[in-house]
Amino acid sequence: MTITTEEQLEKLKAIGRICAITRDAMASAMRPGMTTAELDEIGAKLLAEHGAMSAPMVTYDFPGATCISVNEEIAHGIPGDRVLVEGDLVNIDVSAKKDGVFADCGSSYVLGTGDKRLGMLCRDGKKAMWAGINAVKAGAPLADIGEAIGKFAKKGGYTLIRNLASHGVGDSLHDEPGEIATWPDRSERRRMTNGLVFTIEPFLSLGGKMADQKSADDEWTLVSRPAAPCVQYEHTVVATPRGAVVVTLAG
Ligand code: CO
Ligand code: CO
Repeated sequence: MTITTEEQLEKLKAIGRICAITRDAMASAMRPGMTTAELDEIGAKLLAEHGAMSAPMVTYDFPGATCISVNEEIAHGIPGDRVLVEGDLVNIDVSAKKDGVFADCGSSYVLGTGDKRLGMLCRDGKKAMWAGINAVKAGAPLADIGEAIGKFAKKGGYTLIRNLASHGVGDSLHDEPGEIATWPDRSERRRMTNGLVFTIEPFLSLGGKMADQKSADDEWTLVSRPAAPCVQYEHTVVATPRGAVVVTLAG
């Protein structure tokens, strides 16, 4: 989607806010002993209360309202009977549609008290996302985003998952201009056009390089190869000449 009217921007901000509120409420409600299906139910109710529809459900028939990925799972985890345990690394990704407009956001959390390294990975995963957001500017090369994130990751001794890209969003969940590498990519020659709407969602890891399907009978859930802790932070942004306008804010 490319924003050309104030009305479009307002609709995008409205669904962006709903996604962020839903993710934050799920994160606050998360408790050891709860199943991921119970956590998803909280998200499903909130989306419905706000008149929004789960984007992965309406787009891909995903078997859940939100994606919840735990520990070895890094993305597209299916809510189910998995019981959350103190110290788990949990990613909650909420994307939804309202008034024909889609937004997408995600965050990783350590449930309760956990491994200190995971806490640091979460802190730096958020910073990696912001390094990318700060590189957004209409007219600038799209590759600047992956370059900035790559530089941040390298400095901290982290790896990036290189086959889970950011993407255009707005008129659909995965919209024009298609996939956007959130890692250094020399083949990227496109520029950020004014008003372009897309996500920034690097997957920062302690050694993971690629995302693989978890098992043959689960076409959704992705795990890291090699196996390593991995976090994802995601915002939906609009490129403007003055930089990024972040639309997935709860406040
Ligand atoms: Co997402
Ligand atoms: Co996304």
